[in-house]
Amino acid sequence: MQVVGELRSIREIIGEIKKREMTIGFVPTMGFLHEGHLSLIRRAKEENDFVVVSIFVNPLQFGVGEDFEQYPRDLERDKELAAAAGCDLLFVPAAKDMYQRGYATFVDVDRLTEGLCGASRPGHFRGVTTVVNKLFNLVSPHRAYFGQKDAQQALVLQRMIRDLNMDLELIILPTIRESDGLAMSSRNKYLSSVERKEASVLYRSLRLARELIDRGEKDALIVKKSMEDLIRSTRGAVLDYLEIVDTDELKPLESINGKCLVAVAVKFGATRLIDNIFVEV
Ligand code: PAF
Repeated sequence: MQVVGELRSIREIIGEIKKREMTIGFVPTMGFLHEGHLSLIRRAKEENDFVVVSIFVNPLQFGVGEDFEQYPRDLERDKELAAAAGCDLLFVPAAKDMYQRGYATFVDVDRLTEGLCGASRPGHFRGVTTVVNKLFNLVSPHRAYFGQKDAQQALVLQRMIRDLNMDLELIILPTIRESDGLAMSSRNKYLSSVERKEASVLYRSLRLARELIDRGEKDALIVKKSMEDLIRSTRGAVLDYLEIVDTDELKPLESINGKCLVAVAVKFGATRLIDNIFVEV
């Protein structure tokens, strides 16, 4: 596995790969890799001739007072994990190269970014869509792989790719969970042992929603109230949002019909965790 940081180097390597008519699979990450990322890398390896993984903790997608500085970083460990999972080229750009002095260009996806994490983290998705655009321009992948854990991010990026006529396929793979259902996330590292136990409530609340919906409940308010009661009964859990939305525009639903996304964000101390499931009735 090659490791490069310079923008010029990645362009040269990608140019060579394209000359050889190899397909490129791309997994953008912010590092501190876990099994969720590794499942994306392995799939990219199965479906492409050449796999690029990027590690870049993107300052643009963190708001004031968020965890940009504390975000966990361990490049040496990440190198080993990425190589073992099948990465051919690890791209680790520097912030000063990605955002040069005088940087002034941004990509915004409207509407879909207004609710859920977009409401709790103003400017977050602008940072994500901008950096992912830049990374796509540098790597020019045939396929890009994202996890369903960040379902809103994946749907926003899917819309951006369609709207901007970008020539690549976006592949969304299932959330990888710990044995108690907690979605794997680099941020789980922040949790104390007590919080770690309590954090399974996110997935338990989603399972409760699925059970109620499977039993025929169509009233979104009733489903949300049951989830909310469960979360509020968990010590240390502070509800950020809990929503049932359509999967096209991500607008809150009153009545559950067709395919919808049940999404939740809960804080444990300073750590904010998100999770979601799709349900179809
Ligand atoms: O999901 C993430 O890790 C980040 O939002 C991404 C897509 C790598 C952009 O910085």
